[in-house]
Amino acid sequence: MAASGVALPEVKEVAFLERIGAHSHIRGLGLDDSLEARQSSQGMVGQVAARRAAGVVLEMIKDGKIAGRAMLLAGSPGTGKTAIAMAMSRALSTDSPFTNMSASEIYSLEMSKTEALTQSIRKSIGVRIKEETEIIEGEVVEIMVDTPASGTGQKVGKLTLKTTEMETVYDLGGKMIDSLMKEKVQAGDVITIDKATGKITKLGRSFARARDYDATGAQTRFVQCPEGELQKRKEVVHTVTLHEIDVINSRTQGFLALFSGDTGEIKTEVRDQINTKVAEWREEGKAEIAPGVLFIDEAHMLDIECFSFLNRALENEMSPIIIMATNRGITRIRGTNYKSPHGIPIDLLDRMIIIKTVPYDEKELKQILKIRSEEEDVEISDDALAVLTRIAGDTSLRYAIQLITTAGVVARRRKATEVGMDDVKKVYSLFLDENRSMQYLKEHQSEYMFSEIGGGDAPLGSKSEQMEISS
Ligand SMILES: Nc1ncnc2c1ncn2[C@@H]1O[C@H](COP(=O)(O)OP(=O)(O)OP(=O)(O)O)[C@@H](O)[C@H]1O
Ligand SMILES: [Mg+2]
Repeated sequence: MAASGVALPEVKEVAFLERIGAHSHIRGLGLDDSLEARQSSQGMVGQVAARRAAGVVLEMIKDGKIAGRAMLLAGSPGTGKTAIAMAMSRALSTDSPFTNMSASEIYSLEMSKTEALTQSIRKSIGVRIKEETEIIEGEVVEIMVDTPASGTGQKVGKLTLKTTEMETVYDLGGKMIDSLMKEKVQAGDVITIDKATGKITKLGRSFARARDYDATGAQTRFVQCPEGELQKRKEVVHTVTLHEIDVINSRTQGFLALFSGDTGEIKTEVRDQINTKVAEWREEGKAEIAPGVLFIDEAHMLDIECFSFLNRALENEMSPIIIMATNRGITRIRGTNYKSPHGIPIDLLDRMIIIKTVPYDEKELKQILKIRSEEEDVEISDDALAVLTRIAGDTSLRYAIQLITTAGVVARRRKATEVGMDDVKKVYSLFLDENRSMQYLKEHQSEYMFSEIGGGDAPLGSKSEQMEISS
């Protein structure tokens, strides 16, 4: 049999480079069907009330009917606010956009603050566009290609396609010939051609021609010769964000700006036109809005102008769900001399639902540290984990998480397979946590330049004064 001589193409292995980020262990909110938080699931531990609340909000978002809601995650540092937002983004369906930004980003962009916020908002709203495309679907009877005698110049050719009822000959241009070659289309294949884009898809080989060639691999799919007309209509749905539509339609930028990210400011007229167009599409049933989430971390870094802008934006019918997170208590609202809870103006707070996160107990800290060591591929002994948990309780969870990696390196250096108590002790003495660093600075202040904690104009080395202010 001739088929035995056919070599299958070699399968190339694709290696993915996975980096371990601060929240890479989190895969979802870890809720059960009744939205009750499991003590430890999908990488999330404890913080059950906040997780459950986040789950309820997520349901609301998935329904897609509610616009203009805002939610605030408030709690002390390291209590999992960012983690919960990440979990929500992972649990959201793929075609609802999730935009993740830190409030301070808006100050570093070469555009106004409100433009930056508008872009983020429009990045968070998906538009599902339904499109009917015309396709040609049939079995290939024959492909004929004429190469010009000179060897150069346009190639031309003819393609004969048939269904069970009809047969048509199509003229081929150079591009079509190239894509037919690329797809290795031959007589007996059943193909579709997208009329608008010219994209060719091979559906399989026709049953009728199954015996013509024995050089077909095991993967070959056999399909029936299509029935009816060669030309057909097919519905496809794609989701794009409003921001993408903006960029593509703003004449100065063009779609290439999507790749560079360098979109600059977009004119209001462009946005107005697009809003009108999208509204039209919605009325005609061609498009649907898929509202997503805009997550603004460190929200206390926004200033009063941003807050009033967001207040207004939330009233818009096309607003996404806005989630903010902050670890500040009562503090000054940026850009004013007024203080308010979380540094967020009261009128905006009034529109938000506030979810609070609380510090972890020892058992939960231990569990999180355990999950993190697994994530970082660090084996850790029970007593070392206990010490690490103590450290997390006394200093901070983040500091303890950092020690996992460093202790792992130390253990590997001494060729141990497991991190022991001594490794943790070693890195604990090598790397200071925030408290000990502060303590050290207080004691050795005079040895540093520009001792600013003591106030700008304090003479260098006046230790007693500095101590008084900073402690
Ligand atoms: N409930 C949890 N389950 C699993 N991991 C958690 C949990 N809470 C926090 N973590 C992990 O602990 C670390 C610190 O948490 P996170 O960054 O979410 O804190 P935060 O509340 O955003 O703090 P900050 O106010 O400083 O921004 C992260 O690596 C996070 O993934
Ligand atoms: Mg955070």
